[in-house]
Amino acid sequence: MAFFKAKSKDKAGTVDLEHLPRHIAIIMDGNGRWAKKRGLPRTAGHKVGAEVFRTIATYCKDLGVEYLTVYAFSTENWKRPKEEVDTIMGLLKRYLLEAIDTMAKDNIRLRFLGDLTSLPRELQDLAAQTNAISETLNGFQANVCVNYGGRDELVNAAKAFAQDCVAGKYVPEQLREAQFEQYLSSAGLPDPDLLIRPGGEQRISNFLLWQCAYAEFVFTDTLWPDFKKEDLDAAIIEFQRRHRRYGGI
Ligand code: FPP
Repeated sequence: MAFFKAKSKDKAGTVDLEHLPRHIAIIMDGNGRWAKKRGLPRTAGHKVGAEVFRTIATYCKDLGVEYLTVYAFSTENWKRPKEEVDTIMGLLKRYLLEAIDTMAKDNIRLRFLGDLTSLPRELQDLAAQTNAISETLNGFQANVCVNYGGRDELVNAAKAFAQDCVAGKYVPEQLREAQFEQYLSSAGLPDPDLLIRPGGEQRISNFLLWQCAYAEFVFTDTLWPDFKKEDLDAAIIEFQRRHRRYGGI
């Protein structure tokens, strides 16, 4: 068995590299509070948060996790001040541009999930480019949820299925879960095994409602900008202690 000793002393334990979660989802929460504690504007928290995302994505890839999905901007986040929304969009643009330059070399796939039609045109075009590059690759996949809401995703999927029924492609009675999943923005992805929420809140906040049906949840008080590789180790170790029963015994 391959083991990896977690580095943090107070969260001592061992990550079993042969039983890693295949897919980790993270609600990157606490950026605003992290900044406020330091007397900085909230946008400073998002900037550090974007760096932490880079570090954790690279670490997931190096460990051997296959998929990482993060919540970057919800369908409700448009209510935030324009400066904050613009900063997050700017960070996403910068990340997409970097990815276009490096993803083929690093064999990293990148997919934006959510209703991208309301994003600035430039972001939509960049996301389409990274999707096209991703199709030529087979390595670790990072998914960034933007203008994403779990309920919105389900309603859109229901609408699309209803339209296919009206067009005569399907009849409602024949719908199965596996077919419905093809209408979700996560189509083709395995469900998350582990959902991590830093930032102290213990709720799902409209994230991957369908996909997290059997995910193991790990909550931590650490604010996202303070989240380290050791915190990921600790969450994986906690995941590996759980006994997943999927409704069985
Ligand atoms: C939640 O913290 C965080 C967000 C709504 C934005 C997350 C976005 C980023 C980290 C930038 C995305 C960039 C990349 C490259 C993926 P909050 O602002 O709600 O924090 P609070 O609860 O402390 O106010």
